[in-house]
Amino acid sequence: MTDTFEKIEDIEIRLLLQALYDRYHYDFRNYAMASIKRRLRQARERMGFATISAIQERVLHDPAMLPQLLGYLTVQVSEMFRDPNYFRAIREHVVPHLRTYPSLKVWIAGCSAGEELYSMVILFREEGLEERTIFYATDINQDALHAAETGIYDLDRLKVFTENHRKSNGKSSLSDYYSSGYARASFDKSLRQNVVFSDHSLVTDAVFGEMHLISCRNVMIYFDRVLQDRSVGLFKDSLVRKGFLGIGSKESLRFSEHAPAFDDFVREEKIYQRAAR
Ligand SMILES: C[S@@+](CC[C@H](N)C(=O)[O-])C[C@H]1O[C@@H](n2cnc3c(N)ncnc32)[C@H](O)[C@@H]1O
Repeated sequence: MTDTFEKIEDIEIRLLLQALYDRYHYDFRNYAMASIKRRLRQARERMGFATISAIQERVLHDPAMLPQLLGYLTVQVSEMFRDPNYFRAIREHVVPHLRTYPSLKVWIAGCSAGEELYSMVILFREEGLEERTIFYATDINQDALHAAETGIYDLDRLKVFTENHRKSNGKSSLSDYYSSGYARASFDKSLRQNVVFSDHSLVTDAVFGEMHLISCRNVMIYFDRVLQDRSVGLFKDSLVRKGFLGIGSKESLRFSEHAPAFDDFVREEKIYQRAAR
């Protein structure tokens, strides 16, 4: 790839991201550039456009193309009980604190197709906390949110989900929560009875409420430092004092200006506690 081509591509990407913001209020302008570039190149190739400017032209005039483009711009990789030790740590260290509250609010930010949400609801049910809890599941990707609301997954993913659940010290069998047919696993609708699904962006939207636990894993890795800071600020303002924040295993609060508002709680699993100060 020539220098000139790369320079033009950078301009095109900048213009496309600005257009998406001005037209639809989706703001990818401060996402980590290397990953955005990779994804837009992939989108251009797979959607059959000659240039990124051509994508811009089309998406500006055709809102129906937006979901497809968002599918490329957001990464939807997830698993139930992903990183089982994280859920084990929630179970062993966070749950005993949560038990002391008569009612609870839990926010799964960047919930993708619901894998992390259902994991948390099942864990709360196993620990006898589900009935006193409201779960908020948010994402910017409408297709992902819709998938989360239906709770249906390809059956071939269940082997890994089941193994993860077991490793998280699950107290029941995952198969208690779904029925299968037509190569799909359909999770019981009772798991959604205390769940509010909502479109919410960590980049453009405001504080969410008084949460006792926020789990936001593998979302901020796609942001630059400014956006990571904004998100951590949102979490700080959305947590009750002594509330908990869990982030992804490869993420850290260390560089955030809001870091002093959090204490390490389970360091190796990146679970923090909002300081009482
Ligand atoms: C890799 S998935 C993580 C799913 C799950 N939390 C996990 O760890 O398995 C990243 C999710 O973040 C969402 N996302 C991206 N930008 C976002 C934003 N600004 N606000 C909220 N969610 C966002 C994506 O749509 C995607 O569903």
